[in-house]
Order: sequence, then structure tokens, then C-alpha cells
Amino acid sequence: MSDSALKTVTVLGSGIMGAGIAQVAAMGGLDTFLYDVNDAALEKARGVIAGSLKKLAEKGKFPAADVDATLARVRTTTDFAAAVTPSDFVIEAIPEKLDLKQRTFVELERLTRPGVPLGSNTSSLMISAIAEPLRDKGRVIGVHFFNPVPVMRLIEIVLGPDSSPQALAATEALAKVMGKETVRVKEAPGFATSRINALIGLEAFRMLESGIASAEDIDKALKLGLNHPMGPFEMADLVGLDTRLSTIRYLHKTLGETFRPSPLMEKLVEEGRLGRKVGRGVYTYDAKGNRIPDATH
Ligand SMILES: NC(=O)c1ccc[n+]([C@@H]2O[C@H](COP(=O)([O-])OP(=O)(O)OC[C@H]3O[C@@H](n4cnc5c(N)ncnc54)[C@H](O)[C@@H]3O)[C@@H](O)[C@H]2O)c1
Repeated sequence: MSDSALKTVTVLGSGIMGAGIAQVAAMGGLDTFLYDVNDAALEKARGVIAGSLKKLAEKGKFPAADVDATLARVRTTTDFAAAVTPSDFVIEAIPEKLDLKQRTFVELERLTRPGVPLGSNTSSLMISAIAEPLRDKGRVIGVHFFNPVPVMRLIEIVLGPDSSPQALAATEALAKVMGKETVRVKEAPGFATSRINALIGLEAFRMLESGIASAEDIDKALKLGLNHPMGPFEMADLVGLDTRLSTIRYLHKTLGETFRPSPLMEKLVEEGRLGRKVGRGVYTYDAKGNRIPDATH
């Protein structure tokens, strides 16, 4: 697909990721449908997008004069057929449940024009599994965005065994319009990003368990010595220890011993120390989300 064939994009699911994806599509000048089953989620997403555009304009990262027109390019709807029928590219960002995604993709195949790429923002599922019930599996491709979408520069393109060259070319064209960089990865558990990130986090927990250094010093070492923007424990607290543990359990099951879960991480999850979202993980946070310096762990 040439860039000019890409005019209308549909985003399914208007949560954390869907709102951000719709925003960057509209910022790229695309007519954007944002679909959700829940009216309140759509309303919230519109507020989030408006707030984010305003903030970007205040920081001089987006023209203030374009904010209103960009917001107007996002059409929110709970009408699935109306959202997907005119689409040149669909990106699914609904909950991470295989059966839900499969059912949605079957409906997409039925209602969209033949050949329109069907992207999934899944963070862990196999593209081939999502495509499995479709007649034309070549249309399905992984389009993995990062949170927060307007800020993070990468789209990790995940290729299933059947993903077509046309779907790949269209995804690369879409990324360009959205101002994102891309990498191509063949489908494998954890793709490239989640797999390496999980391993660094896991190794940091193993070092903490064996008393090699404190959490603060391991975080500081990776930030100041290796130029990581965040330490592995700060990252684990941000992602959520329960979310991180379930990824690691999946990688352990599929890729083997390298990903054996850390007993310390399991213990923190059992104790409800899930990270920033509950005010306590590896570190402790006050009600405003600021870290309390002398936290124990
Ligand atoms: N949160 C992250 O940091 C992140 C990063 C990369 C990828 N992902 C992936 O993106 C996807 C969405 O994650 P999220 O964090 O935005 O979730 P979320 O819970 O914030 O949003 C999901 C939205 O989907 C809606 N929804 C539920 N069923 C639907 C359906 N049948 N059709 C349309 N909408 C439906 C919900 O109402 C909700 O608004 C998941 O596959 C997740 O694994 C998440």
C-alpha cells in the first residue's frame, strides 16, 4: 500500500493504548475511528487525547493551531460496522484475551475490504493464534506500540508465519505517517522488547535476592553506568509486579529455565506489593506517587 492509500484508520478499544494509538494516527493527519463497547471509555479517551495534545502544544512539540482539527479527526463510536467498513488499516487494542481477539478478527475479516491489514497491539499473544480462524491469515500482523504511545518512538512489527508482504509494507507506511520508528520481529514469546526487558528485570531480582547490592544501587548502576532511562526495579514497579510475573511465567513455560520466576518477585506479589498502582512494590510511594526514600524491601 502506498502512503496515499492510507487515509482512514480504525482503532478498536479506547483504553490506555487505544486512546494513544488513535491520537498519533490523528496527529499524522489520518481520519481516525476509535471504537469501544463502552461509551464511558470513549468519553474518557477523548478527554485523555485532548489533554495530551494540549500538553504537547504547551511544550512546543505540536502546533497549538492544529490541536482542535486533530481532535476533530478522531471519531468515537460504539458502532462496530460503521467504524471498520471505511477503514484502510485496523489496529486492535482490546483486552489481552485470545478468544476475544479471535472473535473480533473474524468479524473484521467479514466487514472490511479484502486486503485491508488487520493489526493487533497484543503484548504477548502469537499473531498466528489470533489469525487462526481467518480465511486470509496474511492480513493479520502485530503492531506493538509502547506506553505512553504519543511519547514512545517505536512500533515493534511482529510477523506471523502468514503475515503478508502487503501487510508489512502497509504497517511500515503507517508508522511513517505516525512519526514512529519500526523494527521487524518474527513471532516468538515476548517478541524482542518484552523478552529482553523481562530478563534484565529478572536478573536484577536475582542479584537482590543474593545480596549483591541494594535495589537502589542496582537501579543507579544501570541508569548511570549503562545509560538506562530507568532502573529495573523502578521499571518493575511501574509495569506492576503481577503483570511482570505473569509475563515471566509465560516466558518460562515457552522458553525454558532462563526465565524461571524469582522467588522474591513471587513473594512481593503474594504480599500484594504490586508496584506504583498500589503504592508499594519494591519501593514504597506516598499518595501522590512520590517515592518514600527509606523504603524497605
Ligand atoms: N498497557 C500497556 O502498557 C500495553 C502495552 C503494549 C500493548 N498492550 C496491549 O494492548 C491491548 C490493550 O491494552 P490496554 O492496556 O490499552 O487495555 P485497557 O484495559 O486500558 O483498554 C481496553 C479497552 O478495550 C475495551 N473493550 C473490551 N472489550 C472490547 C471489545 N470487544 N471491542 C472493543 N473494545 C473492547 C474496554 O472497554 C477498554 O476500554 C492488550 O492486548 C495489551 O496486552 C498494552
